[in-house]
Amino acid sequence: MFWNFRRVQQLHFMQLLSTCLLLSGIMVCWDKLNNTMEVSYLYFGPSFRNDSFVISREEAYKFSNHGYLINHEDKCKSDDVFLLLFVKSTPQNFQRRRGIRSTWGNESYIESELGVSVKVLFALGVHPHSDTRTLVQQQLYREDRKYHDLIQQSFVDSFYNLTVKLLLQFNWMHAHCSQARFVISSDDDMFIHMPNLVRYLKQVSQADAQHFWLGRVFSNSGPVRWKSNKYYVSQELYPWSSYPPYTGGAAYVVSRDVALRIREASLTLNATLHIDDVFMGICASVIGVAPKAHNFFSGERKSPYHPCIYKHMMTSHGHETDLRELWKTATSPDVQTVDSGFLGKLYCSVTKLRLLCNPFNLNTYSCKTSTIF
Ligand SMILES: *[C@@H]1O[C@H](CO)[C@@H](O)[C@H](O)[C@H]1NC(C)=O
Ligand SMILES: *[C@@H]1O[C@H](CO)[C@@H](O)[C@H](O)[C@H]1NC(C)=O
Ligand SMILES: *[C@@H]1O[C@H](CO)[C@@H](O)[C@H](O)[C@H]1NC(C)=O
Ligand SMILES: *[C@@H]1O[C@H](CO)[C@@H](O)[C@H](O)[C@H]1NC(C)=O
Repeated sequence: MFWNFRRVQQLHFMQLLSTCLLLSGIMVCWDKLNNTMEVSYLYFGPSFRNDSFVISREEAYKFSNHGYLINHEDKCKSDDVFLLLFVKSTPQNFQRRRGIRSTWGNESYIESELGVSVKVLFALGVHPHSDTRTLVQQQLYREDRKYHDLIQQSFVDSFYNLTVKLLLQFNWMHAHCSQARFVISSDDDMFIHMPNLVRYLKQVSQADAQHFWLGRVFSNSGPVRWKSNKYYVSQELYPWSSYPPYTGGAAYVVSRDVALRIREASLTLNATLHIDDVFMGICASVIGVAPKAHNFFSGERKSPYHPCIYKHMMTSHGHETDLRELWKTATSPDVQTVDSGFLGKLYCSVTKLRLLCNPFNLNTYSCKTSTIF
């Protein structure tokens, strides 16, 4: 009887072990597949030469020669700024800005709960349609009188002017907040798990916060040559078939030195390439800085809703209406203990496997994050 019982136990153990092995195998293959699918273009031919973008300073200056309509030069007056957070917004997105102010972009929450000084600014151009521009502009002035957190230049706010907005951010940082230890740039439909991110950055800043550039890294992509595509780039604009590595523009973090050197590089580069994150990759390749990937910076899609995910998440894309709810649940204290102990770890590992190694959740987080043992 006793012997039988042990045999049964052994059998169960072997079963569990082989299941685990099988699952790890699936995970590795799945990630291979996932990565292959993210490569937007397989390339051959001559590789990229960054010096081809070099132009004179006078000509480069034209790309950022836009006057300010709204500015807050004194925003960073206090000496110690840990985080300068730019949110790329557009004039008419009032609701999104309101949502961000009361959740992950709440300065006083971050300062009191997370213990670091942060400055949040929304970066804008002007409304593209001249007939509604005046009205929207009045609303923006009113909004800014209330919150003092908009910076706006006179360029037309459009997808094809995103690189101009990139220059606005780095130039502003250089002029008015060059002491900030880290700079984040984010879209206004993002969710950023500030407690997780700030905890991570505190560790980085204790070690060495130099040459630091973190986000979701694209290192195997190249220009789209289909004219109907939003990301179409002509042969003339970019003759090579691959881009230098860059982080997705939806959210990334750079250290102070990288921000300042990218800005410096941009002063002599042709910023006609409208895809802002790719242009940043070009600037970075000129100064010899490469991005570092973090598994919990999401791709194009929303992260699955689950405490085991919230425990590690940094960013998640595509949030407009669920921001407040997600903020409440994802930053609740329970989340920090969800994977404690062996059973907790097992539970979260299986949960992540189920949620991330799943064809319906491609482009969120990597499947291999399930193996956090
Ligand atoms: C920001 O956070 C503070 C402190 O946690 C809180 O009192 C305040 O209500 C929050 N602001 C908004 C707009 O939610
Ligand atoms: C970008 O902004 C400039 C300056 O306002 C404007 O002349 C140009 O038309 C804009 N480009 C696009 C594609 O909107
Ligand atoms: C910048 O690049 C565009 C596209 O290739 C080109 O038409 C333009 O002449 C370049 N500008 C300068 C100043 O070289
Ligand atoms: C880009 O140019 C700089 C100097 O101009 C050089 O140090 C760097 O290695 C180049 N990078 C690539 C990818 O060619």
